[in-house]
Amino acid sequence: MLKFVVLLVSVALVVAHHDVDEPHTATVFLLGTNVHGTINFSEVEGGKVHVQGIITGMPPGEYGFHVHEKGDISGGCGTTGSHFNPEKMDHGHPNDSVRHVGDLGNVRFGEQGTANIDFVDSQIALRGPHSIIGRAVVLHEKADDFGRSDHPDSRKTGNAGGRVACGVIGILEPLYPQKRASSASNIESFAYFFITSALFLLRHTSF
Ligand SMILES: *[C@@H]1O[C@H](CO)[C@@H](O)[C@H](O)[C@H]1NC(C)=O
Ligand SMILES: *[C@@H]1O[C@H](CO)[C@@H](O)[C@H](O)[C@H]1NC(C)=O
Repeated sequence: MLKFVVLLVSVALVVAHHDVDEPHTATVFLLGTNVHGTINFSEVEGGKVHVQGIITGMPPGEYGFHVHEKGDISGGCGTTGSHFNPEKMDHGHPNDSVRHVGDLGNVRFGEQGTANIDFVDSQIALRGPHSIIGRAVVLHEKADDFGRSDHPDSRKTGNAGGRVACGVIGILEPLYPQKRASSASNIESFAYFFITSALFLLRHTSF
């Protein structure tokens, strides 16, 4: 009987897993006094997000690049709040386990004053509690020190200084997500499948 239950659960999980919808994508247009850029975000395998785009207008060097918690640019980049930090962690490097969800590290500008951005992040998301949709991307005036210096701001902001450009992250796709992709309906179909199969087994198995 136990073997049957294990088999049922596995089959039901596969059925539920099959019910995933198309990858979500989002975009942000970054604007500052002399700086502008476009960055796209797209869901990739393993619940990760591919970040890809171009920013121009900064002198060669590295500059802090973060998702801030609010999509409010009514007062410029100053009204976007703090780093997006739903897990209430200290500031860190993107590859640290202790970091803000919004900690995307530094972007590097080359001799032409252009930054080509192309990396994958495992903490930001385009849905759920880590979703960055409707929040802001901010480019800073200095490099992020990843919380590793003695400066009092290091473990809060990476001591990356003022905000030189920002923009609000908005939806690219899907424009109208399918309703059946909700986890509630997945659980319902799982329960239905499990109960029906269990009743069938009880009727046709002698033990
Ligand atoms: C972002 O995505 C849009 C829509 O697919 C595309 O037109 C644009 O070229 C992309 N921008 C960058 C910087 O990749
Ligand atoms: C994080 O680790 C990955 C895999 O080792 C590496 O490719 C990536 O460059 C690292 N990210 C940063 C910002 O250093």
